[in-house]
Amino acid sequence: MTSGSPDYRDSATFSDDFLFGSATASYQIEGAAREDGRGVSIWDTFSATPGRVVHGHTGDVADDHYHRVDSDLDLMSRLELEAYRFSIAWPRIQPTGSGQVNERGVGFYSRLVDGLLERGIKPIATLYHWDLPQQLEDRGGWTDRDTAYRFAEYAAIMGEALGDRIDTWTTLNEPWCSAYLGYGSGAHAPGIQSGRAALTAVHHLNLAHGLGTTELRHVVGDAAKYSVTLNFHVLRGGGYGDDDAMRRIDALANRAFTGPMLRGEYPADLLEDTAPVTDWAFVKPGDLELIHQPIDVLGVNYYSTATVRLWDGASPRQTADGHKNSGGSPWPGSEHVEFIEQEGPYTAMGWNIAPDGLEELLVSLSEQFPELPLMITENGAAFDDEVVDGRVADAERVDYLRRHFVAASRAIDRGVDLRGYLVWSLLDNFEWAYGYTKRFGIVHVDYETQERTVKDSGEWFAEVIRTRRIAE
Ligand code: FCB
Repeated sequence: MTSGSPDYRDSATFSDDFLFGSATASYQIEGAAREDGRGVSIWDTFSATPGRVVHGHTGDVADDHYHRVDSDLDLMSRLELEAYRFSIAWPRIQPTGSGQVNERGVGFYSRLVDGLLERGIKPIATLYHWDLPQQLEDRGGWTDRDTAYRFAEYAAIMGEALGDRIDTWTTLNEPWCSAYLGYGSGAHAPGIQSGRAALTAVHHLNLAHGLGTTELRHVVGDAAKYSVTLNFHVLRGGGYGDDDAMRRIDALANRAFTGPMLRGEYPADLLEDTAPVTDWAFVKPGDLELIHQPIDVLGVNYYSTATVRLWDGASPRQTADGHKNSGGSPWPGSEHVEFIEQEGPYTAMGWNIAPDGLEELLVSLSEQFPELPLMITENGAAFDDEVVDGRVADAERVDYLRRHFVAASRAIDRGVDLRGYLVWSLLDNFEWAYGYTKRFGIVHVDYETQERTVKDSGEWFAEVIRTRRIAE
C-alpha cells in the first residue's frame, strides 16, 4: 500500500510552521466540580451512578487543573508546546445550559488563554467535549432539537468573551461518541440505550455544529479559524460480507458527520440502512443548509483501526469494537456487523497499534475534501506507566508516537495539507468509563499528591518540537 519501510521507523522532518502541541478536555482534568458556580454536567451524574465508571471514579478532583493552571502552563512551556487544545466546560459558563452567564467560569478560561498567549502557545478551544449541562439533558439532551440552539447561544457567549484571543475554535469533539456511546450503547453519559435516540442525537449534534459555527463567525469574524473534530473509523474487512459491513460502519461512523457538515447531505445508504430504526423526520427543511458551513480546518482524531464483517448468525457474535461493553449497540440498524479481534501489538486500551491506518486516513480525507486543511487533534496511547526513581520510562509510548509521526510525515509527502499534530494527552486523566485506570499522558500524574512527572515520551516530544526531526 505504501512504499518504503513498512514499520514506520524511518526518519522524518517537519517544517517550522507545522504546529506541534497537546490536548486535554475539561471534565478529564479540571476537577473543582462544584466550585465558582459551575453547574452539574451529565458526566457528574453518570460517574456518580454505581456501575457506570470503573471503580466508581469521578471527575470531582481529576488532575485538579482548575487550581493548578499556572504550574500546568509552565509545564507546557517546559515541553515547548506550540499549541494547546483544551475544552470549555459548558456548565461553568451557563450552569443550567441556558440564559445567565457565570462570569467566574468565563474568567477561568480567560486566564488560561492569557497564560497560553504569554507563553507563545496557540490556544485551540473546543466548545463541547461531552460535558453537557444536566438541566439540558433533563429536557432530552441531544435528542431535543432545542439543545442545538442552546449550544449556539453558548458559542456566541464564548465568542464574545475570548474571540479575539483564540487561534482555532472547534465546535464539537467526536460527535460519534456523544451520539452513539451516549444514547446508543450507553457506555458514556447520559447512558441511554436506544438506536433511535442515537440517530436523533447525530442530527442535533450536526445542527449544533452548523449553528455554533455561524454564531462564532458572526461574533468573532475571520480573525480566528473554525473547525470540528471527528474520530474517523478506519476500517478493514474481516471475512463474510465485509464490503457491506465496512460500507455500513463507514456510513454511521464517518459519513453521518462529513456528509451534512462538508457536503450538505446525509448519505442515501445511511438513510436506507437505518430506515428500520427511524424515518429521520427530525431533519427539518433547511437544516442541511444550516449544518453545511465552511470550516477552515478539519480536526482528525485517530487511535487504531477496526476490522468488521457480517455476523453469520451461527457462531457467537463478536463485538471487539474497542469500547467498554455496556449492553446497548452503538450501531443502529447495523447490529449484525461484527467487530473482530485485530492483530497486535496493543495499547493498554486493547486498541491495536496501526500507524498505516493514520497515513491511509489522512490521504483518504485529503482526496475526499481536497480544499480542506487537516489537523491531527488527538493521537496517543495508554500504557501501564510507573514512576521509578522519579522517571517514567515509557518506551512503548515513544515508539507509538514516533511511528505515528512518521505516518503523518509520509502523508504530507503524499500531498496532504496537514497543519499540525496534537498529542493526546498532556496529562494522565479521567479516561471516561475507564476512570483513572488508563494513562494517556506524556506527563504522569500521581492522583494522591497531584505531582506531575514528565515521562520519557514528554522529553522525546519536546526534542522533536525543538529539532523538527525524528532520527532513524
Ligand atoms: C477520545 C476522546 C478523548 C480521550 C481519548 C483517549 O475518544 O476524545 O477525550 O478519551 O479518546
